[in-house]
Formats: sequence, C-alpha cells, structure tokens
Amino acid sequence: MSFKFSRREFGKAGLAAGALATLPISLVRLAFADSAQDFTFAYISDSHIQHIKGKEFVRNWDQGLKRAVAECNLLLPKPDFVIYGGDLAQLGTKPELDHGAEIMSACKHKVHYVMGEHDYYLDLGEYWSKLFGPHTYSFDHKGVHFVVLNSILTTDEWTFKRWPTAKQRMDEMAGLDNPNGSPFMVGEKQREWLKKDLEKVDKNTPLVVLSHSPLQKIFKNWNFWTDDAEQVQAILKPFKKVNVLYGHVHQIQYNKIGNIAFNSVMATAWPWPYPQSYALAESHLPVLTVPMNRADPFFERDATGWQFIGMNSGRVNATFQLPDNDTRKVAYNTKTDKPEDVSFQDPAKRIPPQNHY
Ligand SMILES: [Fe+2]
Ligand SMILES: [Fe+2]
Repeated sequence: MSFKFSRREFGKAGLAAGALATLPISLVRLAFADSAQDFTFAYISDSHIQHIKGKEFVRNWDQGLKRAVAECNLLLPKPDFVIYGGDLAQLGTKPELDHGAEIMSACKHKVHYVMGEHDYYLDLGEYWSKLFGPHTYSFDHKGVHFVVLNSILTTDEWTFKRWPTAKQRMDEMAGLDNPNGSPFMVGEKQREWLKKDLEKVDKNTPLVVLSHSPLQKIFKNWNFWTDDAEQVQAILKPFKKVNVLYGHVHQIQYNKIGNIAFNSVMATAWPWPYPQSYALAESHLPVLTVPMNRADPFFERDATGWQFIGMNSGRVNATFQLPDNDTRKVAYNTKTDKPEDVSFQDPAKRIPPQNHY
C-alpha cells in the first residue's frame, strides 16, 4: 500500500482550504499503488451531547456535532464511510443518545460507531446498542481490516458492586480527574475475540484499530490510559502495518510503540488542556476541578478542529487545522522512525504547557 496525500488534492476536489479551516471532523485517506483503490473515511468524535431539561441541550456541543455532520456531507472526495469515535452522550441518558442519534441521522454516509465511557456507564451500553449495534466488531474495506473495540470497560467490582445507583456510577466515571473512577480496559473476553478475529487476516493486511481510549498508557489520573494495553498490543504485534485511532483525549496526541502507530482525533465538543507533564508523579498532577476547561469559553469552536490523516505504508501523517491556532502537522519521520510534530521540533516554536496552578 502506498499513500499520496496533499491538501491541494482535496482543494482541487472542490473544497477551498479556507472553508475547511474549522471543520470539527477528521478525514482519513488510504491510498494504494493502484489509485482506483484509494479511499477515504471521515472520523467524528466526542460530541458529549448534554441534556439540560425538556428539549434543551447544551448548545455548543449540539452545534459541534451538527456542523461536523453537515461538513461531512459536503466532503469531496466523498468518504466511503464515517467512524463515530465515542462519547456521543455526556451522561448516557436516553434523551442524550436519542438527540445524538437524531443529529447523526442527517449523515449521508454509513456510520460505524465506537463506544465511549460517557455513553456506557449509565446502563452499560444497553440503549446505545439498540441504536447503534454491537460494541465489538470488525469489517473489511478495500483490502484494509478494521477492528472496533470497546476499550472503556473496567473491573466487575467497580462496575457492579461499588455504586448504589447506575446514575452515581455514570457520574463517577464522567469526571476527568475523579479519583473514584477506574482505569479502562479491553478485557479478556474481547482480547480473545480479537485473537480469533485476526486469525483469518493475512499479516501483510493493513490493520486500523478503532478504540475510544488510547490503547496505550499516557496519563492514568485522567484515564488517558488502557490498563491491558500491552496485552492488546501483543495481539497486534504480528501484523506489519497497524494503526490505532482513538478519541477520548480531546487533544492532539501521537506515538509509536513497536509496529503500532497511534494517533488521536479531535473532539467536536471541547478541548482538554495539556497537563504540565504527563509524568505520573504526584507533584506533576494538574489541578483540574472545572469539568469543561476551555481556553476561550465565548468561542464555541475554540481548540476543536479538524485533521486530515494520511497513511503511508501503514504510517500516519496528520495535518491539523485549528481555529485561531497555527496549523500543525504530525508526520512520520523515517529517519527517527517515529511520528513527530513537525513545527514543534524547533524549540523556538514550542508553546509552554498550560499552567493550572
Ligand atoms: Fe470525550
Ligand atoms: Fe471518553
């Protein structure tokens, strides 16, 4: 598989770059040596539709998703399908999931859904399943094997025994920096399923694994973390071209572990700040007690944005357009053999981490 990607190509296809500058979606393009095989898919994530009362919902989150769907319908080339990356709802209620599903129903493309913790912990995914189908599944598309995992499960003790009500369970898991939360995991049952699912797949077939939480360990205290990440990575190890795309973190992240390239996608709702450090030392923990910390609360698209992701021979190059921020590009550096944020390799251009003290 080879990949050729340029923003100009998308511009030529009918969308002016300026018009794309605030799209709260991601567009992924997989291109092959035979260009007839090229395809794109779009990725929308983390809308956190939040019910107030009656027919009232938090406007900003509604607007982020509506806009993403509208823009998705206008994309040229047309994406072959759309991934919804999880956290459609804020507290997993029927009104939120119904409202989210209604907004998504305007999408003209087939949508594959990924489970987020905000969708799950009220009724353990029951109503979500009625609307969107299974939590774990795979599909093949033009020579690429896609796997969707529910990565936000946790221990039975936490899920079934600790909380007097389902609502309290949901509220505890919904807090970003809540010590009463519990680390996410894929769990043994899905890992066994994954092994079986991949048995029939040729080791040269490109894999795209879609999860909500990162299938790697970044920052436990905010649950930017999957507890059995190493075990999942071990199952993916025999494959030559593996990409993990995830939501949940509401910010730009990228990494490579062994053969696996990791990239996050943007949220349509709000950004999470970058902690002063992702180090798991107590002295580095950010103080964060405001659930929706926005750099500019009066600009509803602040620090959301869109990205084009190109996969070149199984590697991800991502170009981010961020309203009121410099464009950023995370590209695979073949010399260092890892993805790098291109501009931020220049120390003069680095932006110091946000200070929350
Ligand atoms: Fe989220
Ligand atoms: Fe999440």
